[in-house]
Amino acid sequence: MRNLTEANLTEAVLARTVGCEDARTRRMLQSIIRHLHAIVREVEPTPEEWLAAIRFLTETGKMCDEKRQEFILLSDTLGISMLVDAINNRMTAGGTESSVLGPFYVEGAPARERGTDLAAEDSDETATFRGRVLTPRGEPIAGAVLEVWQTAASGFYDIQDPSQPPMHLRGKFQTGADGRYEFHTLKPVSYPIPTDGPVGALLALQGRQPYRPAHSHFIVSAPGFRRLVTELFAEGDEQLDADPVFGVKSSLVVHFKSDGTDARGRPHFLVEYDFVLETA
Ligand code: BEZ
Ligand code: FE
Repeated sequence: MRNLTEANLTEAVLARTVGCEDARTRRMLQSIIRHLHAIVREVEPTPEEWLAAIRFLTETGKMCDEKRQEFILLSDTLGISMLVDAINNRMTAGGTESSVLGPFYVEGAPARERGTDLAAEDSDETATFRGRVLTPRGEPIAGAVLEVWQTAASGFYDIQDPSQPPMHLRGKFQTGADGRYEFHTLKPVSYPIPTDGPVGALLALQGRQPYRPAHSHFIVSAPGFRRLVTELFAEGDEQLDADPVFGVKSSLVVHFKSDGTDARGRPHFLVEYDFVLETA
């Protein structure tokens, strides 16, 4: 195959994928080739522009390590993460809606007793989350595991901030026969996604703001049920309609009910929320 032209180059490249034995991988490869060629035909980049794109991806890769995942951030801010999520989590039985995992989930959060306070630091405002894990028919799910993580009042996760103890504001709770969970934590705050890398530059280029609305993250799972990755957002937050990663759904916006002060005199709020898991 030689003397390829603008007219037949795409077909020539596609033809070279036939050696890929796995049908699914071959289909994905062909789709990627077709769409990338279509982009180039549409945009007609100059060689300098194409190099700039390659440099951007190179910088994105260089920014990644065990604690920083710039490619997830790129996927999130381009809406790809939420699109993959939407395709893979079509709720049919009224289960709790899913949302973005984000780059700050850490495996291996410690198991905690019901009612544990996850906050090691003093902060202005604290919150209790409580509720049940239910089947779509409203029956409690015993032995469900609810994993939670969020930032401190500074807007940083423990893994971004050496001043916080490891696994700060993270925990795993198991429901009993009543399906109930309860834990204490800080009232989540609005915070910016990291802007010190290529993704931040890309946001700035579009005139986009980096602040996510205040939220807490959850993974809820139980044998025989679909694993739920989701978030709960604070009602009234100014960024609810401007989330840079497109994760907000109305059903996930919760009211932080004012509940006086806690034992240390800090303003305390209560969130009551039942998670509903769909069968696997
Ligand atoms: C987060 O909420 O942890 C997050 C999600 C997506 C991108 C950046 C941060
Ligand atoms: Fe977050």
